Amino acid sequence: MKMAEGQVNKFSKLHSYFWIYVSCIMSKWLALLLCITSVYHVTCLNNGLALTPPMGWLSWERYRCITDCETYPDDCISEKLYMEMADLLVSEGYKDVGYQYVNIDDCWMSKERDGRGSLVADPERFPHGIKHLADYIHSKGLKMGIYEDFGTKTCGGYPGSKFYLQEDAETFASWGVDMLKLDGCYTNAADYEYGYPIMEFFLNRTGRPMLYSCSWPAYVSNPDYVKIAKYCNIWRNYADIGDSWDSVRGIIDFYGKDKGNFSKVAGPGQFNDPDMIIIGDYGLSYEQQRTQMALWSMMAAPLFMSSNLRKMPQKSKALLQNKRAIAINQDPLGIQGTRIDMIGKNIQVWTKQISPKGKSFAFTFLNTDEGGSPTKISYPLKKLGAIAPAGYNVTEVFSGAFVGMFKPQDSLNVSVDPTGVFFGMAKFLG
Ligand SMILES: *[C@@H]1O[C@H](CO)[C@@H](O)[C@H](O)[C@H]1NC(C)=O
Ligand SMILES: *[C@@H]1O[C@H](CO)[C@@H](O)[C@H](O)[C@H]1NC(C)=O
Repeated sequence: MKMAEGQVNKFSKLHSYFWIYVSCIMSKWLALLLCITSVYHVTCLNNGLALTPPMGWLSWERYRCITDCETYPDDCISEKLYMEMADLLVSEGYKDVGYQYVNIDDCWMSKERDGRGSLVADPERFPHGIKHLADYIHSKGLKMGIYEDFGTKTCGGYPGSKFYLQEDAETFASWGVDMLKLDGCYTNAADYEYGYPIMEFFLNRTGRPMLYSCSWPAYVSNPDYVKIAKYCNIWRNYADIGDSWDSVRGIIDFYGKDKGNFSKVAGPGQFNDPDMIIIGDYGLSYEQQRTQMALWSMMAAPLFMSSNLRKMPQKSKALLQNKRAIAINQDPLGIQGTRIDMIGKNIQVWTKQISPKGKSFAFTFLNTDEGGSPTKISYPLKKLGAIAPAGYNVTEVFSGAFVGMFKPQDSLNVSVDPTGVFFGMAKFLG
């Protein structure tokens, strides 16, 4: 029997209410999700955001879940922290070079939802509420991000969005949120592939463009990156960064291995996220800070600093604001750089195509040796992908120093410090 369109809608609504009812009594989350996906057509993410990797500041690595504002008045998760960081993004020049988002992470909420089931900010630490904070951040010409979790609780034990996805999307939109990081603690492995798309659907329905950061692939063993990129602007696929070289090195190795070729999925609107920038914190030497800035630029990574902007060492600030490194990260092609070669067992060779396509590229030699003296290397430009016979102008990215003019068959001779990099850019002549 053929039904008229109105009848079909009515039928599917009834059908959906039936399944919501069944899922409630059986607490079968999956049934609810399946039913919603069948009723509404969940379409691809098309919010026009993250055409280049997003840049900003995010509290998690540096400020974690500090809620004791008496003992830690400057470090606790509070409106004061985010307002001060917003002020500093502007006054210290970060905004001018592209850092735009001020992102709240876990532990901003009250332990319970309010009587109507809505999320509320902790009243002591956020006495004016999140809308007020968003207004403040917007008044500085910046954007505000927030954190939730797709499970029943956030990783820090605060109310999660499971069973409240629609309400929470609407709450965030009403507050003026510009970005959502949705974590994946406290849920079942089978739920991710349904839950994250459903949240994308509800975010879209609010009508407010919100950049969507998914922790989905970090929680599953063989992520379907092509599918994930359909629903998320950026996605975390590896463990949280910590304040150490070991942690940075582990992430670089994971991205170097590129299991399942996840680098290929990156492009405008969709980027792999190797996690925050810890430059200016406690764990990295200056060489290692250069390494993180170089590699995160090469990987077309979102650049979210997690550090104390009130006390940023000058040299660290100069790295974070290096315009040539940022331009490589923000290149409009959005191509993720990859590790293409090893020289011996300690020198990693990375390349990234930049505009104009096929004519210019960035490259990095990373020395993972943890002792001794700088390593001298000689490497033919053609092995980096240089093919134009007219040759290339090579510059060192951090300093902008001109290294020389090279033909594809010429070799580049550089010296790379232990746990450091040579970060270069080759521009086609002609
Ligand atoms: C919602 O999705 C539609 C279809 O993909 C898209 O055109 C629209 O811009 C999206 N709106 C928001 C707010 O993301
Ligand atoms: C990844 O790419 C390489 C080279 O482009 C190819 O040989 C390999 O089969 C690909 N692997 C997967 C899992 O797609």
